[in-house]
Amino acid sequence: MKYIIGNWKSNQNITESLIWLDELSALRPSFSSSVSVILCLPFTDIASFNHKIADLGLPIISGSQNVSHLPPGKHTGEITANMLAELVNYCLVGHSERRHEFGETSEIVALKARYLLENSITPIVCLDTPYLDEQVKELFHHDVDVSRCFFVYEPISAIGTGKPVEPTDANHVCTQIAFLTDNSAPVLYGGSVSSDNAASFVRQGRIDGVLVGTDSLEPTLFAGIITSLS
Ligand code: 13P
Repeated sequence: MKYIIGNWKSNQNITESLIWLDELSALRPSFSSSVSVILCLPFTDIASFNHKIADLGLPIISGSQNVSHLPPGKHTGEITANMLAELVNYCLVGHSERRHEFGETSEIVALKARYLLENSITPIVCLDTPYLDEQVKELFHHDVDVSRCFFVYEPISAIGTGKPVEPTDANHVCTQIAFLTDNSAPVLYGGSVSSDNAASFVRQGRIDGVLVGTDSLEPTLFAGIITSLS
């Protein structure tokens, strides 16, 4: 199985998300049973988005972009894994933007992954080389079952720059991630992925899919990526 995961980041309100779905549906991208399409949305969009994908019969699975590192309780404003369990099957954790803008540490990321797994949500753990070893160690230290996670190599230099790393270099780091996680989980690449380059990553031996930021926001571009991997 190959994976295309979109990350809308802090874009799209409910209305815009539903228009996006109408537009994508009208484009009739060639979905394939061997390519799983997951879209990680703002919390506010998820419920109405789920209804609409069911109405349209689109083979898209929703995910969230964040979750609390705390259990249910007195934590005003937090969205816990228990709340998300009724809405999503996947959740991003450890994105470099959250590390930089919100000071998230490898320990916090491991706690999030643990709560997600306790609620049957697959954590999609984002990694870059400076903290790759540290993050994987924290996951093991917190008894996170890495075989139930997804991993993504997302080099900061490639995020939002239009300059992806060479597919062979991405494959090298993805192989390293696979080795550290007992070759038990899908490993993806993210960073300036487009319909022009997505297939070149997935053709490499150890890259199971792509995580797409900018080009997931535009239905035409995202449909192009789906078609390119089908
Ligand atoms: P871009 O595709 O815009 O480079 O973003 C990548 C990313 O951060 C996905 O999580």
